[in-house]
Formats: sequence, structure tokens, C-alpha cells
Amino acid sequence: MAHLVCPWWLCHSFDNPLRRLFHDPEGLLAPHVKAGMQVLDIGCGMGYFTLAMARLAGSDGRVVAVDLQERMLAALGKRARKAGVDGRIVLHRCRPDTLGLNPEAETDFALAFWMAHEVPDQPRLFREIRGLLKPGGRFLLVEPKLHVTLGTFEGMAAACLEAGFRILERPAVSLSRAVLLEKG
Ligand SMILES: C[S@@+](CC[C@H](N)C(=O)[O-])C[C@H]1O[C@@H](n2cnc3c(N)ncnc32)[C@H](O)[C@@H]1O
Repeated sequence: MAHLVCPWWLCHSFDNPLRRLFHDPEGLLAPHVKAGMQVLDIGCGMGYFTLAMARLAGSDGRVVAVDLQERMLAALGKRARKAGVDGRIVLHRCRPDTLGLNPEAETDFALAFWMAHEVPDQPRLFREIRGLLKPGGRFLLVEPKLHVTLGTFEGMAAACLEAGFRILERPAVSLSRAVLLEKG
């Protein structure tokens, strides 16, 4: 399977009024992100979900937004300043083979939305995410039906179990396959 990384110019089209009709960022994330939480947006792109996470986490919360591509992070930085939530967001550029964050187990919630299929070593990604979460911390993995077959997604879910997560729920997310996990 090819692991093509979403080009920066295509990510411009990821934040538009049409997408808001089927992926309402606040609606999707409100059950998971509460005021004061420390949360992670992995493969954040230009921040379609990051800004909502920052609003939900509030002024005492913190969002670490991680991406491979500098252009994504630069665009997110501008948007966060404009939205007045830049003080709550830490931008982190990672490498393709590692998130490169200290496994301090301080994170309450991690999101990987439509990004895991772009990562060559997914088991490693899931182990890293687990290491960053607090005991009981949650991880929402969402993949696009268009690029990820049911069999491939189930392989990812199995790799999450192998990494030490347990499955809490299979939330319905438009155009997507999704699983909500908890650090076991
Ligand atoms: C399809 S975009 C999705 C962006 C955003 N999550 C959204 O739903 O709008 C995938 C993003 O994952 C990033 N990405 C790909 N491989 C990555 C990796 N190994 N680590 C972190 N980010 C990665 C890409 O640079 C791109 O910004």
C-alpha cells in the first residue's frame, strides 16, 4: 500500500463550508475535549480540528498540533492567531517515522483524523500515541472510507489493541471509519 502524504495545497480544500455540514468539528469533539485538558491533534494539517480543540480546551487547556509539513503548521499558526487561540496551541513539526514528543503520559485525548493511512509504520505511531496519553486517556482514530478499506481499518484497530489500547466505541463519522480507544 502506498503511503502518500496529503500535499499542502490540497489541505486548503479541507476547511470549507461544505465539509462543516458533514464534519462539525465542535460537535465531533465536544464529547471528548473538556476545559483544561491537554490534547493532541496528530496530522493536524491546517487545523480544521485544532481550532475547535483549542476552543473546547479553553484558556487553561493546551493543544499540541503535530504535522510533518511546515506549511501546514505555518498556516495553522496564522489561523490560530486570527481566532485568538494561539496561546493554547503548541505547533510541533515531526518526522515521518516518529512524532518526536516526550512520552510524558500527560495527554488526556489524542485525535488522528484522516492521517494514519499516510504513515508507513502505523503500529509504531499507535505505540507512540499510547505513550503520550495519561492512564485512561482516549484516542479517536478516524480514517476516510475512500482510501481505507474495512479490512485495512480493522488491521489498524488490531494494531491499536496490540499497542495496549482497548476499544470503547465505534462512533459514526460521515464518510469515515472510526474507533474510540482508551489507554488500557
Ligand atoms: C489528509 S490531511 C488531514 C488533515 C486534518 N487532520 C483534517 O482532517 O483536516 C493528513 C495530514 O497528515 C499529515 N501527516 C502525514 N503523515 C504524517 C506523519 N507521519 N506524522 C504527522 N503528520 C503526518 C499530512 O502532512 C497532512 O497534513
